[in-house]
Amino acid sequence: MRASTATALADARARTHAVIGPIPESDLRAQHSPLMSPLVWDLAHIAHYEELWLIRALGAGAPTDPRFDDIYDAFKHPRAERPDLDLLGVADAHSFAAAVRDRVLAAVGTGTADRRVDPLVTELIADDLVYGMVVRHEHQHIETMLGTLQLMSEGGPVAAGDGPGATTLVPGMHGETLVPAGPFVMGTDTDLWAYDNERPAHSVDLPAFFIDTTPATNAEYAEFVDAGGYDDPRHWHPVGWKWRQEAALVAPQFWSRTASGWTRRRFGRVEPLPPHEPVQHICWYEADAYARASGKRLPSEAEWEKAASWDPADGIGAKHARPWGGSTGDPPSAALWGSTARWGPDDVGAYPDGASPVGALDMLGGVWEWTASDFGPYPGFRSFPYREYSEVFFGPEYKVLRGGSWATDPLAVSTTFRNWDYPIRRQIFSGVRCARDA
Ligand code: AVJ
Ligand code: FE
Repeated sequence: MRASTATALADARARTHAVIGPIPESDLRAQHSPLMSPLVWDLAHIAHYEELWLIRALGAGAPTDPRFDDIYDAFKHPRAERPDLDLLGVADAHSFAAAVRDRVLAAVGTGTADRRVDPLVTELIADDLVYGMVVRHEHQHIETMLGTLQLMSEGGPVAAGDGPGATTLVPGMHGETLVPAGPFVMGTDTDLWAYDNERPAHSVDLPAFFIDTTPATNAEYAEFVDAGGYDDPRHWHPVGWKWRQEAALVAPQFWSRTASGWTRRRFGRVEPLPPHEPVQHICWYEADAYARASGKRLPSEAEWEKAASWDPADGIGAKHARPWGGSTGDPPSAALWGSTARWGPDDVGAYPDGASPVGALDMLGGVWEWTASDFGPYPGFRSFPYREYSEVFFGPEYKVLRGGSWATDPLAVSTTFRNWDYPIRRQIFSGVRCARDA
């Protein structure tokens, strides 16, 4: 294992501790929403996954407790059932996680984990792929845990203060960017830690299109709401309209209308809606309706990726894992991500250094962006290393989100990373960026 990988493992754990450390034990054990696991389940699940992939899969040791293969397997029990499982308590979950990490580092130190000659293991060990997978898994669950904390009705962690926010500084930022017609390379063969669903790289030819320079702001979205957007079926996908009625959607989750304007609840604190932040906590149907009401549409995944990663100066073959180019040493001025400095996104357009070659801003970090696309395999897809990461989710019931949010660690996202969720979900840090045909 490389030194940088060891650091990444340690950093992920430090972040886990920073996020759940201040939360009282009763809140770690409770279920705050049937959509989410008790936080103490996430913690032990992180440890169990690490044991599976960095100890057991590499032939470096035996299970801590065979019952954990049932309790902490996400496929054995839906989230709503997890509070009733015989879960480890908070202290025991922390000890389990620490003990697994000690065993991993010991196995690496003695070379135990690298001696197996199983082809799967050989492939996993190459380029530290399996370690990268575990690092990214922990970061993904950290974001899930932040989503759970946001769902707590009160007593969330933000009361301590939210740090200084960057201000909006790009005049005319609500403009659009023209992306010229032509082929670009979608997906990756070269990003060493890329997931199976991001592979293989393949050429996609697109007609010209416009994409909004930034995601939609709270103020823009509030205009849609105030203009009766939730009462006009013409804006909504038929299934979305049914859902909007069934679930009585009237505004993004956590918004409230008061005599003096909109407020939103952020990690237990109710505050006036900040107008220039990107709208958060909308489902796919809301994003789709907003785009249609604006006379636009959601970008396809391919359009989103081309706007984020393709560099016209380099021709068809070139693309960037980061919109601003480069692969290591992301400048802090490029994005707000993997950070609880604000417990939310900065204003849109606050990171001009993060512009993509075609001039789109905030493509990474900020808020996840719903795309028009269903989650499916790229041509030539090969499931690796296990079907349950991606393949079992392929199909029309999931929509793809791109770009990560303020809660997503830089190691867990890139311009090729694909996230997915049901089109009715809005507990994630999700927003919308519109596009239209040119
Ligand atoms: C990629 C965020 C959809 O949370 O279901 C976590 C990530 N996979 N543990 C999810 C994941 C296994 C996954 N998402
Ligand atoms: Fe998981």
